[in-house]
Amino acid sequence: MATALIVLAAGQGTRMNSDLPKVLHPLGGVPLLVHAMASGDAVNPDKIVVIAGHGVEAVETAVRAYSPDAVILRQTEQLGTGHAVMQAADALADFEGNAIVVYGDTPFVRPETIAKMAASHDDGNAVVVLGFETAEPGRYGRIILGEDGLDQIVEAKDASDDQLSITLCNGGLVAADAQLLFALLSTIGNDNASGEYYLFDIVAAARAQGHSASVVTCDESETLGINTRTELARAEAIFQTTKRAEALENGVTLTAPDTVFFSFDTHIGRDAVIEPNVVFGPGVTIESGATIRAFSHLEGCHVSQQSVVGPYARLRPGAELGESTKVGNFVEVKNATLSEGSKVNHLSYIGDAQIGKRTNVGAGTITCNYDGFMKHRTEIGDGAFIGSNTMLVAPVKIGNEAMTASGSVINKDVPDGALALARARQETKPGMARKLFEKLKAAKAKLNKEV
Ligand code: UD1
Ligand code: CA
Repeated sequence: MATALIVLAAGQGTRMNSDLPKVLHPLGGVPLLVHAMASGDAVNPDKIVVIAGHGVEAVETAVRAYSPDAVILRQTEQLGTGHAVMQAADALADFEGNAIVVYGDTPFVRPETIAKMAASHDDGNAVVVLGFETAEPGRYGRIILGEDGLDQIVEAKDASDDQLSITLCNGGLVAADAQLLFALLSTIGNDNASGEYYLFDIVAAARAQGHSASVVTCDESETLGINTRTELARAEAIFQTTKRAEALENGVTLTAPDTVFFSFDTHIGRDAVIEPNVVFGPGVTIESGATIRAFSHLEGCHVSQQSVVGPYARLRPGAELGESTKVGNFVEVKNATLSEGSKVNHLSYIGDAQIGKRTNVGAGTITCNYDGFMKHRTEIGDGAFIGSNTMLVAPVKIGNEAMTASGSVINKDVPDGALALARARQETKPGMARKLFEKLKAAKAKLNKEV
């Protein structure tokens, strides 16, 4: 059965007090709504429709980065969750299959939970909602069960005192046949305390038409919605705690887990060691047995087995480290490949470069990759030796087993096996230093007398 995923992301998020649309605030390095979309991947959606409103262009960019084929629709006025889903009716007019509605501001729903909702729908329940038990039902919608299952959902604002004492609450997500969903939505009104079209009113509508409805329950922690910066910070803490526990369980050593920060898609192999105070931005893969030493910052990079990075290293997007490589303290690598066994141990910048196998890059080496207008590449072969403080003025190629002398400014290619010296020749003047010292001493003494 085909499935369409509908992501609600049009709300203003007033309580975030931000120019950025709420669903674009990052959690674990990616926008909130990407978490919701990733949970939805559990049902392998054939079509993804995102309902945006505030900051629709920015939302579109973020959505496309995750899912290039997603359809982005605009809800110009935010008239409620039911009204938001209705915006997808035209785009899905010919769609035969299930629709699953998720909220862009609710990042922790587990894929397994969404799969359970889809399964309950497959079992014959026409409308499936997500519910959770909570000690503090507060302003959540209440789920009203009747003799034969789910009867209706009532928003807290519209509930009676009896209904308010119910602790089974609405998690917001819905699964139903797409065409039935739109047919039911077309019958609901907005005669309630908020004057909004409530998505969950389709439950009462379905029951009135003789359809069955069911609740799938999940843990309260999954339905945590983000409405304020405080909730966002709390969610980030929860996210990091989960990621740290996952890494430990997967056989990664974290010397001080609470000081290591992960992204949504950080992959770390077994027996890797992560020392204290390491930050993983998006797009990082660390293979097994690698060591990331303290105070390193990594994003968009790949570190192969048995490599050692840091302490105090920075790997930027496109850094590709082969097996058993070393990137040491105060070294920055960007858009560059280091092949097996190569080392850049101290105080260097390697950008837009390709370095062969077993090559040693001396302290203070800089790839001068930018001329103020364009970026240029540096290529270094296998088994080369780049002397300390070499400036590699790109575009430039250094051959296999070639050498550059310390302090050289290299702006011409160096062939295989050659030594390039590109610095002023040293001149040594015997006794000259002593003479100079005496002259300076005398000058100073004269000056002191005059004062
Ligand atoms: C909603 C439910 C509530 C449930 C709670 C669970 C309704 C009316 N209420 O309340 O029963 O307990 O979720 O977290 O459904 N959105 C739009 N367009 C709109 C309105 C909302 O796209 O016109 C989007 C928001 O961006 C958000 C989602 O729908 O991603 C939920 O809306 P929100 O206003 O946060 O609903 P809650 O008050 O949390
Ligand atoms: Ca909410």
